[in-house]
Amino acid sequence: MDKVKTGISGLDEMLNGGIPVGRHVALYGGPGAGKTSFCFEYLYQGAKLGEPGLYVSLEETPEDIIENMKSTFPLLTDVPQLIKEKKLELIKPDKLDLEEVANILEDRITTNGIKRAVIDSATMIRLSFKSETEYRQTLFEFLSLLRNLDVTSITVVEANTATRSEMHYDIEHFVMDGIINLYNLDREDRRVRALEIFKMRGTDHSRDLVPFKVTPSGIKVYTGEKVF
Ligand SMILES: Nc1ncnc2c1ncn2[C@@H]1O[C@H](COP(=O)(O)OP(=O)(O)O)[C@@H](O)[C@H]1O
Ligand SMILES: [Mg+2]
Repeated sequence: MDKVKTGISGLDEMLNGGIPVGRHVALYGGPGAGKTSFCFEYLYQGAKLGEPGLYVSLEETPEDIIENMKSTFPLLTDVPQLIKEKKLELIKPDKLDLEEVANILEDRITTNGIKRAVIDSATMIRLSFKSETEYRQTLFEFLSLLRNLDVTSITVVEANTATRSEMHYDIEHFVMDGIINLYNLDREDRRVRALEIFKMRGTDHSRDLVPFKVTPSGIKVYTGEKVF
């Protein structure tokens, strides 16, 4: 099976080459876990490989994300150029609506040949639904729309906990092809960032909980190391 290289240091090794092409992954984590940084780098690395990507932000404006990423990843100095060349595009739709998101994706696939997409976040959409059942239904429909599109996506899902034992599994976990969990684990005197690939249909993968860092040049996943 063909893989999409995330380009995130250490992660493709854990994924046996990358995310299987055309699959849809949920990225789960609490506030400040690094979800936006992770997704931004996924698109950035794709853009560098000549695979254009679209960041659909449902909360922050594209300007805010670009500004924040500039301070998080100061060494990725070619971001403005990649944006100019339309290899990296960020958009905030007018409505909190999954059908609208699917339409935007379809349009950018046709007009710009995007190969990677990020939706940040499903939780924003979920909050706009009155009932869980309605949201579940809509999410299923959205996934079936996505499955007809030639794109490999990551959808952010907000967790309301940073700890591993308190993670519970939401609707998104059952419908998505893959789940990557980001943690900001509480240690006595500090917090430790850790990552695990919880599920990934279509490929063998590491099941270890491993440390990671957000560095000025990108995220570094320390494959094979233990979390202390
Ligand atoms: N310039 C920076 N230097 C170091 N760490 C940073 C910088 N900017 C952001 N971070 C870290 O990244 C975290 C936010 O990452 P982000 O990707 O926005 O998380 P999320 O989307 O999960 O809320 C912050 O909590 C902070 O710890
Ligand atoms: Mg975020």
